[in-house]
Amino acid sequence: MVGSAIMKRLEANGYTNLLCRSHAQLDLTRQRDVEDFFQEERPDYVFLCAGKVGGILANSTYTAQFIYENIMIAANVIHASYTSGVKKLLNLGSSCIYPREAPQPLKEEYLLTSELEPTNEAYAIAKIAAIKLCRYYNEQYGTNFSSVMPTNLYGQNDNFDLETSHVLPALIRKLHLAKLLSQKDYASIARDLERFGNNLPAGSSDDLDLLATHLSGFGIHPDRIVLWGTGAPKREFLYADDLSAAAVFLMERYDASDIGEFINIGAGKDRTIREMAETISRIVGYKGRIEWDGTHPDGTPQKLLDISRIQSKGWRADTPLEKGIEKTYKWYFQ
Ligand SMILES: NC(=O)c1ccc[n+]([C@@H]2O[C@H](COP(=O)([O-])OP(=O)(O)OC[C@H]3O[C@@H](n4cnc5c(N)ncnc54)[C@H](OP(=O)(O)O)[C@@H]3O)[C@@H](O)[C@H]2O)c1
Repeated sequence: MVGSAIMKRLEANGYTNLLCRSHAQLDLTRQRDVEDFFQEERPDYVFLCAGKVGGILANSTYTAQFIYENIMIAANVIHASYTSGVKKLLNLGSSCIYPREAPQPLKEEYLLTSELEPTNEAYAIAKIAAIKLCRYYNEQYGTNFSSVMPTNLYGQNDNFDLETSHVLPALIRKLHLAKLLSQKDYASIARDLERFGNNLPAGSSDDLDLLATHLSGFGIHPDRIVLWGTGAPKREFLYADDLSAAAVFLMERYDASDIGEFINIGAGKDRTIREMAETISRIVGYKGRIEWDGTHPDGTPQKLLDISRIQSKGWRADTPLEKGIEKTYKWYFQ
């Protein structure tokens, strides 16, 4: 999602000499392959957007993969950028790096002041290691590597997998499927499941009982939808195109010495997950009941970034949340 949004922004700004590799073409956990790529291609500017990313379920289940793959990607790309003479690098971090009980809104200086949120600790430790790699390479080797900490992102090319997605795309898809189920629109449900996967046995999409059982496993029932947690936690969301604008803005105008160890990027406003579910219901046209299952974890109670530093540099987000969700829903739906 972020990588393609940055590519789109760079193309729109007139850049043409863009180098990009998919995961299949270059596995960034493989040090030798990463070094060969940097030595052969010699990029001048690097946006480090790759990572193993996921929502609360994936983060708390695949802890070893989250810490190992994200640390390896960061260490390999940052070290190869140094050895191949990259002029500037922008490392994508995440607001998960902040302590669970840190005061809100989260200021950059709260990093490492107390315990992390346990449900995403593995990911957060890897992201903190990446920030520190950039900082210490700058201090020891005089590189120009910066880190940005975006809040929760959403937009085109987001992950809509019901098991591994973040909360906003998960809500869009679940509420859309719940609407289709309440309307008995099984053909559209089957098309959706075929397009986005989720382990439906091959050729079984016209078996209505199986479809209903499959959806109920995700809390989607004909008369109601059951969502994880209490709905009370507050989250901030930023449209991926706004993040890409901020990333290109910082890359073009600021050096690591202006940015400091890292800089927050957010929208400046948060909402409860319950409010989000209501907003998304309106946008997708779901009119059924929403129930909350408080036996599942809520994660951090609130996560709102203090964005005064990036604002003082002359940047602010310009996509209202409803507008961004409408565009994302349209992309998902088409
Ligand atoms: N999404 C958010 O809400 C959010 C919020 C804050 C920060 N961020 C940060 O923004 C960055 C991008 O996130 P995103 O949301 O754009 O995630 P995404 O859509 O999942 O993109 C991550 C990309 O990294 C690739 N990748 C994973 N492991 C790789 C490896 N070993 N070698 C090469 N490529 C690999 C993935 O390829 P495959 O899919 O083929 O594996 C995918 O194309 C991450 O650093 C993330 O921490 C995201």
